[in-house]
Amino acid sequence: MKKRIGSILLLVCMIISIFGSGSIPVSAAAKIRLNKTAVTLRVGEKQRLSLKNIPKNGKVVWTSTSKSKATVSKKGVITAKKPGKATIKAKLTYKSGGKKRTRNFSCRVTIRKKAQSSGKTLVVYFGTPVQKRSGQVDGISSASRTAEGSIYKGNTEYIAELISRETKADLFEIVPKQAYSNIYETVRDRAEQEQEEDARPAIKNEIKNISQYDTIYVGYPIWLAYHNLIQCTQA
Ligand SMILES: Cc1cc2nc3c(=O)[nH]c(=O)nc-3n(C[C@H](O)[C@H](O)[C@H](O)COP(=O)(O)O)c2cc1C
Repeated sequence: MKKRIGSILLLVCMIISIFGSGSIPVSAAAKIRLNKTAVTLRVGEKQRLSLKNIPKNGKVVWTSTSKSKATVSKKGVITAKKPGKATIKAKLTYKSGGKKRTRNFSCRVTIRKKAQSSGKTLVVYFGTPVQKRSGQVDGISSASRTAEGSIYKGNTEYIAELISRETKADLFEIVPKQAYSNIYETVRDRAEQEQEEDARPAIKNEIKNISQYDTIYVGYPIWLAYHNLIQCTQA
């Protein structure tokens, strides 16, 4: 009996010490942290830094160790100015338990020179094969084909050529190693199988020196957008 009273007393003491002291918070405060501790920017680029989980009464002062290389705004937006390195510092002050507290954070910034702009544009496209001459057109698969006089073109091909003309861009047609049929049902069956296999069909040709382009447009037709939906419904 004595033992039992003893353990009940011990339990009561434990409960009081946990709930009575108020020293154990209901949920531990999330850790204060900077969203980035290192970034690489090109001259002219910007990057926003922010301190996460700061107390409501917290104030942040942002500074840069090298303003000639990278500046930082009052809101923590870095602007890369000159190639080199700089450190962005965030000084957080807040009150906790009636005391003023300070925490320091920093982010290393590497600034690279501006990328050389070639101003070159490339239009890459893929389209379903088309019988080029009128009179040879499959009535089902070619309902959406574009005609220019007596010449028939794929829709993507037509738009790709238009963009390329307007933007003075190079044109590149993706040619699969194994050509697709120009008969709708045949393309559909192959496309269905390829979707199921998550296939990556081999390509015959290759873009030369892709890094020379600043802008690349990619055009392709939508095939079997509903296919996955049907599979989901069936499952
Ligand atoms: C096998 C196949 C499946 C297609 N599936 C869809 C589709 O799910 N949704 C859609 O809007 N168009 C679909 N289309 C129509 C094409 O996206 C459309 O006609 C496109 O403009 C064709 O471009 P192209 O002439 O460059 O091949 C499909 C066409 C083919 C051949």
